[in-house]
Amino acid sequence: MKLSTIPKNLKLKGRRVLIRLDLNEPIENGKVVNDFRIRRIIPTLQFLVKNGAKIVVISHRGEKEDSLKPIALYLNKFIKVGFVPDVCGSVASDSIKMMADGSIIILENLRKEKGEEKNGLNFAKKLAKFADIYINEAFSVSHRKHASIVLLPKLLPSYAGFLFTEEVTALSRVIKPKQPLLMIMGGAKSETKLPLIKKYLPKASSIFVGGALANSFLKEDGYEIGKSLADKNTKALSPLLKNKKVFLPVDVVVRNGEVKWIDEVLKSECIVDNGPESIFILENMIGKAKTVIVNGPLGIYQDGFGVGTEKLLKILAKSNCDVFIGGGDTVALVSKLKLEKKFSFVSTGGGAMLDFLVNETLPGIKVLSR
Ligand code: 3PG
Repeated sequence: MKLSTIPKNLKLKGRRVLIRLDLNEPIENGKVVNDFRIRRIIPTLQFLVKNGAKIVVISHRGEKEDSLKPIALYLNKFIKVGFVPDVCGSVASDSIKMMADGSIIILENLRKEKGEEKNGLNFAKKLAKFADIYINEAFSVSHRKHASIVLLPKLLPSYAGFLFTEEVTALSRVIKPKQPLLMIMGGAKSETKLPLIKKYLPKASSIFVGGALANSFLKEDGYEIGKSLADKNTKALSPLLKNKKVFLPVDVVVRNGEVKWIDEVLKSECIVDNGPESIFILENMIGKAKTVIVNGPLGIYQDGFGVGTEKLLKILAKSNCDVFIGGGDTVALVSKLKLEKKFSFVSTGGGAMLDFLVNETLPGIKVLSR
């Protein structure tokens, strides 16, 4: 099946384009603290403006209480956009009627309407009335069976956006990687990472498990992990512990900054990062690999424990491997270190990247395939 991409000769002048973006960026004290996803979709918006489309942006942000207004204000740093505090009512409809060619408006957070997450047909029909064409430029939420992702493409002529297409093309290369393949899995939530680890065990030469995910493995292996973040039930990890391709950290950093071997952690302590010896071992593993996939950080970088992940990213940036990176927190560090251009591909997807690599498609891709 081939992805339905934007045809070169698509007539856009004066036509209303409903474009699904993922503007779900972290905001602290009213300020956008990571704009990686925003910057990646600007070329698509510029293309639509240049070709005279009337661009209606739809997106979600966090929970239904959250507004897209601060994101709309932030977007104005890059491109002129207007914000409409309505999703599918008369305010939205009247605003769209008054749009000039080449202008952009952003409607309010889709998740304010129940129909979005419930995949409601009536909701999708209301949105479809606003446009002549639909574009999905939100790969990072295309693992969700939400109305704006899976129903709108059935109601309008629909295309995959430039970034969406780039994500699918790049991540498809991971499915058949250059060997040897090294996977580095961090972050938390083992239930979302386990399917990927299992699927890639046969094709990977090594899988390094770090971050909070490693705490769960260490716990299952009988180590004391004190107050560290870990899964309650770790039984499912037991078979992986016996697999010689799976590697765990040998040393860790605890909250007071002390470096400890993994058998030295006390009941009162909390693991916050991987230690220097583990990073050294990882550096050797990277030296032997041709492809590296990274998903999730090695430490709690939000609390200031980003040293392990930063060292890892710097090593990867200097390596000759094909490096594919995903996951919001890891990508935030890539942006902070300004290393985006050093890797084969930095995905805007976290959960979507994991699901794509496991299932080799996503609900949002299926509906855009010919
Ligand atoms: C993300 O941040 O990963 C995407 O925006 C999807 O968000 P969700 O996990 O709330 O669906």
